[in-house]
Amino acid sequence: MSVLSRVGPQQEHTIVLSVGPAPACDSDLVEPPIGPRTVLTTDRLRIRDWVPADGDTVLEIYGRVEVVKWLGDGDPVPCQTPEQAQAWIQRWRGRDDPPLGYWAIEVTEPGPLAGRVVGSVLLVPLPNGDGEVEIGWSLHPDAWGHGFASEAGRAVLARGFDGGLPEIHAVTHLTNELSMAVCRRIGMTHRGVVEKWYALPSQHFVVTRDQWDG
Ligand SMILES: CC(C)(COP(=O)(O)OP(=O)(O)OC[C@H]1O[C@@H](n2cnc3c(N)ncnc32)[C@H](O)[C@@H]1OP(=O)(O)O)[C@@H](O)C(=O)NCCC(=O)NCCS
Repeated sequence: MSVLSRVGPQQEHTIVLSVGPAPACDSDLVEPPIGPRTVLTTDRLRIRDWVPADGDTVLEIYGRVEVVKWLGDGDPVPCQTPEQAQAWIQRWRGRDDPPLGYWAIEVTEPGPLAGRVVGSVLLVPLPNGDGEVEIGWSLHPDAWGHGFASEAGRAVLARGFDGGLPEIHAVTHLTNELSMAVCRRIGMTHRGVVEKWYALPSQHFVVTRDQWDG
């Protein structure tokens, strides 16, 4: 089944729903663009919505203990089945509330990772907070060491500040040195250890709109 739109001088605004194979020789028939919505682009990345077709990618990234052990509280909970992957994707899609959201990071630069979704970047309310917003990131290990988290993080900070947020927080596990390095690299300031928002003590970073130099 396909949904085709016909736009011509005689037929503006006419939408034709066609069930069955599309006619082979009708040049007026234009297949509407499909694919995930792009939220941001950077020099090397596309930040886009997660979509159901990303299920295998979610399993590949979030089925790994070395990734999920740094996310949330308590024991690591890897994503283990296609059904769980779809549930995760639906939950992330449900976070869309501009300028907030939970997005996929796709590599656009040429090279071995070109075209691959390598992880997530997010801007969401902190749990158990008073409206404070946190930024976060997670990548497949194949994509560590390329600067992708920092590049995506900077773009998402800009989106948050352009969208009116006064400050943006980041919260990491106490020993998550790689994530703390991302925070520092993108201009966030360490505020010490906090014992709020999450059940376990966490490292707390923040940047205000006034401090941020883009
Ligand atoms: C946290 C995490 C995203 C950090 O990934 P990362 O690759 O170290 O961070 P960046 O993407 O910013 O990359 C920085 C590294 O890329 C290197 N790099 C290579 N090419 C680069 C480029 N063109 N531009 C910038 N940096 C580049 C930097 O030198 C740096 O390496 P170094 O630490 O050896 O100096 C990753 O470890 C991860 O996904 N961990 C599991 C999930 C997690 O912990 N999430 C955070 C929860 S709070």
